[in-house]
Order: sequence, then C-alpha cells, then structure tokens
Amino acid sequence: MVPVIAPSILAADYAELARSVASLGREADWLHVDVMDGHFVPNLTIGPPVVEALRKRTDLYFDCHLMMTNPGDYLEAFRQAGADGCSVHVEVGDTAALIEEMAALGLDRGLAVNPETPFEAFAPYLDRLDLVLLMTVHPGFGGQEFMADVMPKLRRTRAELERRGLRVAVQVDGGIDEHTGPTAAEAGADVFVAGTAVFGRERPAEAARRLREAVSSTGSPAGASGGPAPGGEE
Ligand code: DX5
Ligand code: ZN
Repeated sequence: MVPVIAPSILAADYAELARSVASLGREADWLHVDVMDGHFVPNLTIGPPVVEALRKRTDLYFDCHLMMTNPGDYLEAFRQAGADGCSVHVEVGDTAALIEEMAALGLDRGLAVNPETPFEAFAPYLDRLDLVLLMTVHPGFGGQEFMADVMPKLRRTRAELERRGLRVAVQVDGGIDEHTGPTAAEAGADVFVAGTAVFGRERPAEAARRLREAVSSTGSPAGASGGPAPGGEE
C-alpha cells in the first residue's frame, strides 16, 4: 500500500495558515482540516470560510474531519468551500443519510470513529465509504498520546475490507509520529494524520518526509491491494 500523509492544520499557526501549508513543500498528500463545533467536542476551531480561503492557496486534497453534532447542516457549505472529502462521526447517528448526502454532493465519504466505539457500530457502512477514520486519541485536542489499544479494531477493519474486497482508505488520527505511525501501518492503516509531529516541528516538510519513510518501511499484512485514492478519484 502507498501511504498517504495528511498533516493536520490543527497544530499550525492559525494566523499563518497559508504559509504553514506552503511550508509542507511537496511532502504532504492531503491536508487534514479539523472542524470542531464546541458541542460534539469541547473545543472550537474553524469552518467553511477558512477552507474557502485556503482553497485559493493550495491544490492539496482537503480532508475535512467534522467533529460536529450536526454535520449534515454544513456538508454543502464545506463542499462549496472546496472540501474534497468529509468525515462525519458515527457517534452522531443518521449515518446512512449523511453518507448519501456526501455522495450526492460529490464529496468523498468518510466515517470517523471514536476510540471506544466498537467495530460493530461502523462495519455495516464500510461498503458505502471511501474512508474510515479510526481515532487514536479522544477527539477534541491535538498533542495527545497515541492509544495503541485501538490497534485490534484497526486490524479487524483491515481484515474485513480484505475479506469483502472493498477499497476503503483506513485513516488513523491522533498522536501519530514516526514512532507510532509504523505501529498503525503494521496494523493496516494507509492514511496518516499528524498535527504536532508535522506542524509542531521546526521543519514541517522534513517531518512529513520522515513520517512517510517510517510508515513506508513497515510491511503491512494487508498486502498491496486496495488503498486510498489520493485526489479523490472514485
Ligand atoms: C483530534 C484531531 C486530530 C489532531 C491530531 O481531535 O482530530 O486530527 O489534530 O493532532 P496530533 O497529531 O497532535 O495528535
Ligand atoms: Zn482529525
């Protein structure tokens, strides 16, 4: 599998966002945009206007992680602002309708899953997704410690995708760096979100490259099939 590196702007300087994105050079594949509504998670970040402003400054694939209680109210706004894919949380419910709405809007369909949410809660939707986002921290804040106890669920997810022959990207998010990334890669992840480990470093491009090297050298048991579609091709 070819890994996808998705730096999270949550850890960037919000007064210098365009410059932060430019500092990635060509080392990032996607830009992970953490949207928090102060309700689903106890933190507030950014919304469609910032996505729209950034859209004019980069061609990177915009991967919007919607940590919101009512993501359905905003999907169209994110699409119009220039989002390529969105992930809604399975915990907010109404999942089938939200997936359908993303598809109708031409968004890549992502489903995000909190660390304590079981496999059974999202497995029924796998055949309708482009991406499943397994949180490896409790959502809400950057800079937290990677939760290795999510790895059995990640392995099970990858095994299920293989069994059913589904091409769905498997994203890990939270506490990912050049040490924890390989653990997740070995368990079957192929999209790696990193905030602190990229934008928290002196040279983000070099940090992203080091993360890519670290996760690439890990032989995944999943083999070469499947994988994400950077750029969002169906
Ligand atoms: C957490 C966010 C993550 C976070 C990752 O709620 O969804 O995307 O920014 O940040 P780090 O890499 O610092 O854990
Ligand atoms: Zn995120």
